[in-house]
Amino acid sequence: MNAPRLYDNHGRLINYVRLAVTDRCNLRCFYCMPEEGIQYVAREDLLTYEEMLRLMHLLAGMGIEKVRITGGEPFVRKDMLPFLRDLCRVPGIRKVNVTTNGTLTAGRVAELQAAGIHSVNLSLDTLDPERFRRITRRDQFDAVLRTFRELLDHGMPTKLNAVVMAGKNIADILPMVELTREHPVGVRFIEEMPFNGEGSHYPVLEWNHRKIRAYIQEAYPGLEKLPDPPHSTSANYRVPGYRGTVGIIAAYSRTFCGSCNRIRLTPQGLLKTCLYDDGVFNVRDLMRHGASDEQLRDAFLSALGNRAKDGWEAEQNRTFGLPVTESMSTIGG
Ligand code: GTP
Ligand code: 5AD
Ligand code: SF4
Repeated sequence: MNAPRLYDNHGRLINYVRLAVTDRCNLRCFYCMPEEGIQYVAREDLLTYEEMLRLMHLLAGMGIEKVRITGGEPFVRKDMLPFLRDLCRVPGIRKVNVTTNGTLTAGRVAELQAAGIHSVNLSLDTLDPERFRRITRRDQFDAVLRTFRELLDHGMPTKLNAVVMAGKNIADILPMVELTREHPVGVRFIEEMPFNGEGSHYPVLEWNHRKIRAYIQEAYPGLEKLPDPPHSTSANYRVPGYRGTVGIIAAYSRTFCGSCNRIRLTPQGLLKTCLYDDGVFNVRDLMRHGASDEQLRDAFLSALGNRAKDGWEAEQNRTFGLPVTESMSTIGG
């Protein structure tokens, strides 16, 4: 018997899971975590690799085809590579992608490729070592650049994620667009979201997707709009003649919710049916209390039967209230 597919109450098919494998990170990007770090989840409370693989088998049976590994920084978790190898072999999962800060992956890209990783999104907010140190509060710029070069050398499909921050990295926008002249890379500029672990945010987001686009367009009047892949978070462009692409992600303005096809699992097994909700149920607890596959499937179906229509509604429905105080590293982005 085929298991039911994962549709939500708005008729959207869910075929993509973002799996945050750890909340730990070796950087302290100020838009994500306070300087002193956050209270990390106790190791015994993290989903084990076995639990994650059980869930991915089960969800693949319900139509999940794509898994994005996030964190924290995924590669601070021990034995990540063997896990990725197992995950890439789960029947039905067609793509396993990774979002990483790139500090621990220099020298390991060939292994990632051999494991079956389909593409890598590298977080890199600046091309200037000093600004990198100020933004991340760590000195790891060279390691990230080594990873970037190695990804390109290996022909791994690569996107760069740059969170656009007033007063911090505006001077990097055009140089990062320029990277797409020579390199077949997708450079994406992301609106800053309030998940910095401190609960503070700008009253109004100054560098929203419109302002980012206008700024780039002023320097590149010929900027061409590209067709966006289905379910894309980024609106995509190309400077005519350049090899790579430029994307803008309206992560805060939430312009793409209508076609949202994704759910999230946090490192401690909380299901989030929207980035902006505060979690629907803990699947780890269900598993540790002996839930059968059938019971787990029912729990997922029931959560999706009651899903907010967009990130605005999800945010309004939060039981922990507002402002959001989570760190992105406990959500996985
Ligand atoms: P693919 O669609 O798989 O290419 O990944 P992505 O670009 O969505 O993922 P990535 O981990 O690279 O995230 C890039 C930025 O988009 C991050 O700032 C994420 O937090 C943000 N983002 C990813 N998914 C969502 C989402 O569902 N809603 C919102 N509002 N932002 C998202
Ligand atoms: N706002 C927007 N994007 C963020 N990311 C982390 N924190 C934030 C935030 N507050 C991005 C990271 C990473 C992706 C998963 O999420 O840069 O590339
Ligand atoms: Fe989906 Fe929520 Fe993100 Fe909108 S904000 S795309 S509904 S996860």
